Amino acid sequence: MAKLLSVLGALLPLLHQADAVGYTNVSEVPYYGLSPPVYPTPEGNGGNSSSWQAAYARAYSLISQMTLEEKVNVTHGHGGQCVGNSGAVPRLGLPQLCFADAPDGIRGQEFVSSFPAQIMVGASFDRDLMYRYGKALGEEYRGKGINAALLPVAGPLGRVARGGRNWEGFGADPYLSGAGMENVVLGLQDQGVIGTAKHFLLNEEEFRRNPGELGEAMSSNVDDRTIHELYAFPFMDALHAGVASIMCSYQRANNSYACQNSKLMNGILKSELGFQGYVVSDWGGQHAGVASANAGLDLVMPDAGYWGGNLTQAVNNGSVTDTRLDDMVARILASYYYLNQDQGYPEPGVYPYNVEHEIIDVRGDHASLIREIGAAGTVLVKNVNNTLPLKNPRYLDIFGYDAKLPASPWTNPSRFGGGYEVNFGWNTLNGTLITGGGSGSSTPPYVISPFQALQDRVLKDRGTVRWDFDAENPIVFANAEACIVFINAYASESFDRTTLQDDFSDRLVQNVAANCSNTIVVMHDAGIRVVDSWIDHPNITAVLYAMLPGQESGNAIADVLYGDVSPSGRLPFTVAKKESDYGLLLNSTISFEPFPQSNFTEGLYIDYRYFDKHNITPRYEFGYGLSYSSFDYSDISVECHDDTAPEYVPSTTNTTTQGGDSALWEALYTVKASITNSGEVAAHEVPQLYLGVPNAPGRQLRGFERVFVKPGETQEVEFKVTRRDLSIWDVLKQDWQLQKGRYSVDVGRAVEILDSRIRFTGSKVR
Ligand SMILES: *[C@@H]1O[C@H](CO)[C@@H](O)[C@H](O)[C@H]1NC(C)=O
Ligand SMILES: *[C@@H]1O[C@H](CO)[C@@H](O)[C@H](O)[C@H]1NC(C)=O
Ligand SMILES: *[C@@H]1O[C@H](CO)[C@@H](O)[C@H](O)[C@H]1NC(C)=O
Ligand SMILES: *[C@@H]1O[C@H](CO)[C@@H](O)[C@H](O)[C@H]1NC(C)=O
Ligand SMILES: *[C@@H]1O[C@H](CO)[C@@H](O)[C@H](O)[C@H]1NC(C)=O
Ligand SMILES: *[C@@H]1O[C@H](CO)[C@@H](O)[C@H](O)[C@H]1NC(C)=O
Ligand SMILES: *[C@@H]1O[C@H](CO)[C@@H](O)[C@H](O)[C@H]1NC(C)=O
Ligand SMILES: *[C@@H]1O[C@H](CO)[C@@H](O)[C@H](O)[C@H]1NC(C)=O
Ligand SMILES: *[C@@H]1O[C@H](CO)[C@@H](O)[C@H](O)[C@H]1NC(C)=O
Ligand SMILES: *[C@@H]1O[C@H](CO)[C@@H](O)[C@H](O)[C@H]1NC(C)=O
Ligand SMILES: *[C@@H]1O[C@H](CO)[C@@H](O)[C@H](O)[C@H]1NC(C)=O
Ligand SMILES: *[C@@H]1O[C@H](CO)[C@@H](O)[C@H](O)[C@H]1NC(C)=O
Repeated sequence: MAKLLSVLGALLPLLHQADAVGYTNVSEVPYYGLSPPVYPTPEGNGGNSSSWQAAYARAYSLISQMTLEEKVNVTHGHGGQCVGNSGAVPRLGLPQLCFADAPDGIRGQEFVSSFPAQIMVGASFDRDLMYRYGKALGEEYRGKGINAALLPVAGPLGRVARGGRNWEGFGADPYLSGAGMENVVLGLQDQGVIGTAKHFLLNEEEFRRNPGELGEAMSSNVDDRTIHELYAFPFMDALHAGVASIMCSYQRANNSYACQNSKLMNGILKSELGFQGYVVSDWGGQHAGVASANAGLDLVMPDAGYWGGNLTQAVNNGSVTDTRLDDMVARILASYYYLNQDQGYPEPGVYPYNVEHEIIDVRGDHASLIREIGAAGTVLVKNVNNTLPLKNPRYLDIFGYDAKLPASPWTNPSRFGGGYEVNFGWNTLNGTLITGGGSGSSTPPYVISPFQALQDRVLKDRGTVRWDFDAENPIVFANAEACIVFINAYASESFDRTTLQDDFSDRLVQNVAANCSNTIVVMHDAGIRVVDSWIDHPNITAVLYAMLPGQESGNAIADVLYGDVSPSGRLPFTVAKKESDYGLLLNSTISFEPFPQSNFTEGLYIDYRYFDKHNITPRYEFGYGLSYSSFDYSDISVECHDDTAPEYVPSTTNTTTQGGDSALWEALYTVKASITNSGEVAAHEVPQLYLGVPNAPGRQLRGFERVFVKPGETQEVEFKVTRRDLSIWDVLKQDWQLQKGRYSVDVGRAVEILDSRIRFTGSKVR
């Protein structure tokens, strides 16, 4: 085992010349502010995948019968039932395709489920749950005849702590996010639904994400290495899993709009990552006709945008080639055939709420999965003297606006394409939060509030409850065994958050704690929430980050509070002691010269990588979360599978595999460790593998498993470490490169925790 590591060391001359990772003087960076031109668009042909190849053969046989007008018609949005509707070719029997949101449930429809938001699925650190989430969503999208589901999300990744859409993704780490992308795509596409990985790329903030009266949209200016190792990384996993569609993003990258950025689409996505499907614009994200066509955009939504008649003209006058147009259509049709949607796919069954229609109930038994993820993604961060789990209390005080249902969440019936929107928000401080706002918002068929679920439990024990949902300083009924306070933090598409806390909620918690010696705080947050104004209060005995759990909210939190489920959720982001600890990564930081610029000068160092680098002690580190049991870690070992692995990806074939060379996914090492349940409760534990790759951030997540261990039992966990996991992106060679030097190998309960961390120190390891 040590041998392979030392062999790598011998093979690798150190030639890492940073492409400005963590640079401070941006004007020294070559091409700064310019996006390198990459033309023409590589034609989709199936790569080396036989199913994609067959899909392309079918696509081209239809295209050969299509007129120019019909081809152009297919490449843009039309009116119709769905949030997006592509062009049909009635003459040849090709139907219109239906596109719909959201990542956590079909938005604006009836008899559909409201699932936990992706951030909560990320917090479960469980690949199997990720897959089952994708599969259940796939069953619902298919059931409603929706051809393309606008999920999953890996952009934003979570660079900006106050980012308005961070809750739509799996968390602020590319490996965790990649695991979510891969498994959700597999689950979704196994149901025959086209997955749409979004937003490609660098959509890290909402502030001025679109152009407007003030001028152009903000530009994310990011170096090539950071693009690869952080932001494109989880998209590689989606592509590797076969995702058939990618949505380009709203903002600019190096000042060129993402939906007409040839480096991002023709270059990284379609050349380097061998993408075979189609790129669809974010809704209204197209800002030029010829430029977007030639840069690799294949489908514009929700209308003709700058295409339609203009695209016909551009093809006729040679500004866009016939080949490019055929390729756009081929990519769309091949995706349709790749998912076998010509073989009995249901007709679209989505309707506006105010139109009489048949009931199409697609929920199946998804409520139980929703409840399971709701409990699995709940993160316990404080539990003094084992106050939790509750011991069948007969008297509970329940406080806070987040414990109850909002008065009426059914607002904005016409927004976002005819659905209705659930606007449970802390801005009203008047209802529980189960999803965030904007196009990522799900639409629940019902909501089990925390109060409802807890009252039912107390009732079973023939108890008494007291509640106050509105008061800032509620009366505490002193004989209650515990006071549970529910608060939340809202976030939405379209705007970034202005704070990671709010004064009303903080005062509420402090007021209850002042009068109740067993105060338990539950937070439903759309992202990070800081808690330092009360976390150390001696009367606050337990604190939980319960994320955004969807329709089964109350049942899921009751399962954890009562100990039916021991918490194993882990923070998918870093919680700082104070907001300013996030530094320049707190807000959407920009300059305005001449239009908004955001220079990602921190390079690879976001979230825990940033805290590590600057030696800032967080309140709760990435990966943190407590259990009702305790675990011992031991027997770490490292085994090498290929001690002749060359420094760069071996190019044995000239055909591209979607997602990148398949050698990147080959396991070069296996790390093993033993986990013993030394406590008294059967529980899930989430051991995490952090690697220190030379010339890269000190510790990076490169493995995790969620394992169920009974008291006294020991289980061995295995982490397969791939070539990509061990490499950095060499900007000169434009290839992934294994590093010479000593790799550190840590297995533990979170990125920082030292008491459980075990480190591999083989004698020959460099
Ligand atoms: C940044 O680099 C440019 C070009 O090399 C140089 O002119 C400028 O003085 C540098 N600025 C700082 C603050 O070092
Ligand atoms: C943006 O510019 C940086 C710095 O030159 C370069 O490394 C990167 O590839 C560019 N990205 C895009 C999308 O143009
Ligand atoms: C595609 O390439 C990968 C890796 O080179 C190989 O495993 C796979 O069998 C190939 N598939 C086809 C259909 O050629
Ligand atoms: C273009 O697409 C629309 C919407 O699907 C369809 O109604 C129309 O017939 C199509 N036009 C042609 C020329 O096929
Ligand atoms: C061409 O694009 C412009 C800008 O979107 C639009 O106003 C115009 O209607 C388009 N022309 C045709 C023929 O589609
Ligand atoms: C070709 O058509 C496009 C789209 O209408 C237009 O922008 C461009 O100016 C035209 N070029 C010529 C040479 O007519
Ligand atoms: C926890 O237990 C210790 C020891 O019994 C006791 O001193 C302390 O007051 C308890 N803390 C709380 C918050 O109940
Ligand atoms: C919440 O709603 C209730 C009833 O509609 C109202 O009395 C209360 O003032 C509201 N609370 C806040 C904080 O808006
Ligand atoms: C803790 O709660 C008790 C009431 O049970 C109260 O008397 C005490 O002052 C509280 N402690 C603090 C520090 O607020
Ligand atoms: C963050 O933005 C807010 C306004 O939205 C501003 O008041 C604050 O100063 C900014 N903080 C930092 C650290 O830039
Ligand atoms: C970003 O970089 C550009 C180009 O060097 C510079 O003009 C601008 O001031 C920088 N913005 C910030 C916020 O540092
Ligand atoms: C790989 O393909 C490219 C473009 O199709 C071609 O230029 C190149 O010669 C090929 N290389 C090998 C080793 O076959």
